[in-house]
Formats: sequence, C-alpha cells, structure tokens
Amino acid sequence: MTSLPDPRLQAEILIEALPYMQRFQGSILVIKYGGNAMTEPHLQEQFAHDVTLLKQVGMNPVIVHGGGPQINSLLQRLGLAAQMVEGMRVTDNATMEVVEMVLGGLVNKQIVLGIQRAGGKAIGLTGKDGDLLHAQKLERVDGKDLGWVGEVTRVNTEIIQLLDDGGYIPVIAPIGVGPHGESFNINADLVAGALARTLHAAKFILMTNVPGVLNPQGQLYERLRVAEIQQLMANGIITGGMVPKLQCCLDALTGGVRAAHIIDGRVPHALLLEIFTRHGVGTLLSDLD
Ligand SMILES: Nc1ncnc2c1ncn2[C@@H]1O[C@H](COP(=O)(O)OP(=O)(O)OP(=O)(O)O)[C@@H](O)[C@H]1O
Ligand SMILES: [Mg+2]
Repeated sequence: MTSLPDPRLQAEILIEALPYMQRFQGSILVIKYGGNAMTEPHLQEQFAHDVTLLKQVGMNPVIVHGGGPQINSLLQRLGLAAQMVEGMRVTDNATMEVVEMVLGGLVNKQIVLGIQRAGGKAIGLTGKDGDLLHAQKLERVDGKDLGWVGEVTRVNTEIIQLLDDGGYIPVIAPIGVGPHGESFNINADLVAGALARTLHAAKFILMTNVPGVLNPQGQLYERLRVAEIQQLMANGIITGGMVPKLQCCLDALTGGVRAAHIIDGRVPHALLLEIFTRHGVGTLLSDLD
C-alpha cells in the first residue's frame, strides 16, 4: 500500500463515491479481463481488490477472462504453433486441449484465488459448468476455417443469478459447449458481450493492454457512437484483437446495454477510476448522452 493522503481528503474521496455506489447498487457489471492486462502480478492483485470492493458495496461484478499470452506460452513449451486471424485463435484439436486447460484451469483459478485472498468470495466456471454457455462453430463470412472456434448461441444465467445472490463473484473462462458436447474456444470479448446483453448489465467494461480505441496516429477516441464504430470497422482502423472487442460492444449496445467502456488494464485501479469517478478512462461507447 502506498502512502495515504490526509485523512480528511480520504473521507472526501469516500463520500464522492457515494452517488456511484447508490446508482449501481444491485446492478450487474460485466467485466472482461484481458489476458494481456493480467501479466503483472501487482496489477492482478489490484484487480482482485477492486472487484472485491465492488461486490462489498453492493454491485454484482461478473468477470469473463481471456488468456492469450498464457495460452501462447504453453503452446510454445509444447512445440505447437499459435496462429491468429483477426484476433481469433485458429484452434485445432491439440490447441483446443491447451486452451481448455489454460483458461479453465490455470488462469481461471489464479483469478479466483486472487479475489479470495483479497477477502472476496469467487467461483470459477467455464461455459460447461451449470450449463452456462451453449455454442456452435463460428462460420466466417470470408469462409476461413478456424477449427474449434465457436460463437455463443445461448446463455443460461441461472447459475450466475445463484452465485450473485449468494455473495459470490463468478469468474468465467470462455469455453462453450456444442450441441454434441464438444468444446468450443470462444473469444472472451464475445462471451462477455453475450453475458452483458443477457444479464442486462448496467455497465460493460473491457480491460485490455492499450489506452482504449486508438486512431491511426495513436490518439485515443474518448467517445464513440454506434455509427462511428461501424465506420471505423469498415475503414480498417480496427485490426487484430480490437475487432471482436468492437463487434461485441456493438452487439451489447444494440441489445440494450447502455454503455460499454474499453479501458487500459495496465493503469493501477483502472476499474475504480472508471466506476467511481467523473473522469472516465479509456473509450466510452454509447449512443446515450
Ligand atoms: N484501433 C486500435 N486501437 C487500439 N488497439 C488496437 C486497434 N487496432 C488493433 N488493436 C490491437 O488490439 C489489441 C487488444 O486486443 P487483444 O486481443 O490483443 O487483447 P485482450 O483482448 O485484452 O486480451 P485476450 O485476447 O487475451 O483476452 C491491442 O493490443 C492492439 O494491438
Ligand atoms: Mg482479445
């Protein structure tokens, strides 16, 4: 812990958070925690404290995590090649096994443990647990075959509701189940977007490893509306891992979620800055004023 400000200032900071606590009391906040934003242990610890605080003050955070760098690291150790197409991992049989082990095992339990060490209660799930995520093979318009890459066809929110009510923070690894019981690797942004829509989340936050959506000069777009997002995607300004992120924000906004935020998970306490202060961080995506 760093040195504390003057105690009176501390009291003022707390009281400034009151309206936000009141506004989001009982609300669901879907938070996508990017694999690239969780590589530093001290940032992981801060993230765990932040979500524990959110739950403590009456909000219901639902975490969906990625794990790109962690999957790549094990693939490399096993001598398997990693191949990406527009932010999606080409997933053959062997890669699917690694994805399921790394996301559902290592990364998921690390986040769960972090929250518990911060004094919160967390449960780790993949889409297989509690019948959470139904999926089918993702068919791309360009016809490229990505193997076991899936898309969400149905979300069963029953287990999420149970956990929320019991004081648990759900931590979800983006693995879906197909109609024949097969595992699908689903981009975590897409899972988070589907959950935000189905759960009618009050906020949808994507934490990544860039300051937000950037223009070709590297400057931040502080605010984007639906029509602008569509334009950026059509103009090729959005590439790689930002493609599924903006796609799922579009789906969430058109599906009734009021606001989505793409924020820099490398900034200490980025989540608290976004939720409890007037100064949003990153890019706000919304059609509302
Ligand atoms: N216009 C853009 N603005 C910002 N980032 C962009 C843009 N176009 C492409 N990107 C890329 O998108 C990346 C973020 O997506 P990426 O999938 O790599 O991370 P993540 O989704 O946070 O992690 P994970 O996939 O492991 O969950 C950035 O690091 C950046 O390289
Ligand atoms: Mg990604």
